Amino acid sequence: MLSHFVLAFEKEISTCSTTICIKQTSLGGQNLYIAPYVSSPLPVVRRMLTLSELIPGELIYDLGSGDGRIVIMAAQEFGAVGVGVEMREDLVKQALEKVSELGLNGMVKIVQSDMFKVDLSRADVVTLYLTTSANEKVKPKLESELRQGTRIVCHDYEILGWKPHRVDKFCENPKLGYPSHTIYVYKV
Ligand SMILES: C[S@@+](CC[C@H](N)C(=O)[O-])C[C@H]1O[C@@H](n2cnc3c(N)ncnc32)[C@H](O)[C@@H]1O
Repeated sequence: MLSHFVLAFEKEISTCSTTICIKQTSLGGQNLYIAPYVSSPLPVVRRMLTLSELIPGELIYDLGSGDGRIVIMAAQEFGAVGVGVEMREDLVKQALEKVSELGLNGMVKIVQSDMFKVDLSRADVVTLYLTTSANEKVKPKLESELRQGTRIVCHDYEILGWKPHRVDKFCENPKLGYPSHTIYVYKV
């Protein structure tokens, strides 16, 4: 669960002793590292994309794209065009290798950038797997840039103050009854 990593991450930030701290700067011109890397399990990704009602040719952004799995599946299984925005160089490299290996260069772009610096005005769907406090930081950007009709899909962490269009409880293994995830779908 991401929550375990969040605790560790927040501790890391508060002790200010690692490279993460170097990137953890103000909301001003510099990069703002707002969530640790934990990937969404593939069945959860598939569920998020299904709930987003993504259709072929639509444009999806994953903010903090990790190994690129969300935008890769969006292209492979939904025929969408994907942009993954990721700050960590190693993850960007991993994602780019996978995109090339799968021959998806024409449909998936991986950008090494701070998500706060990327223009979202053309997005049809935006996905987030961050934290509730990170979502708070991204919220003003979403509110000012997204056009009407854009869907925002969040894994496990809601956007405070927004009314979800749908909240889905998704269990990866219904026989065991866990692990379970919450998916929040919003519409602008
Ligand atoms: C919880 S992971 C989610 C990975 C992927 N979206 C998924 O669901 O599998 C969050 C990602 O956000 C990235 N990240 C954190 N702050 C960022 C920022 N300001 N800009 C871009 N990426 C960032 C982290 O490096 C990490 O890979």
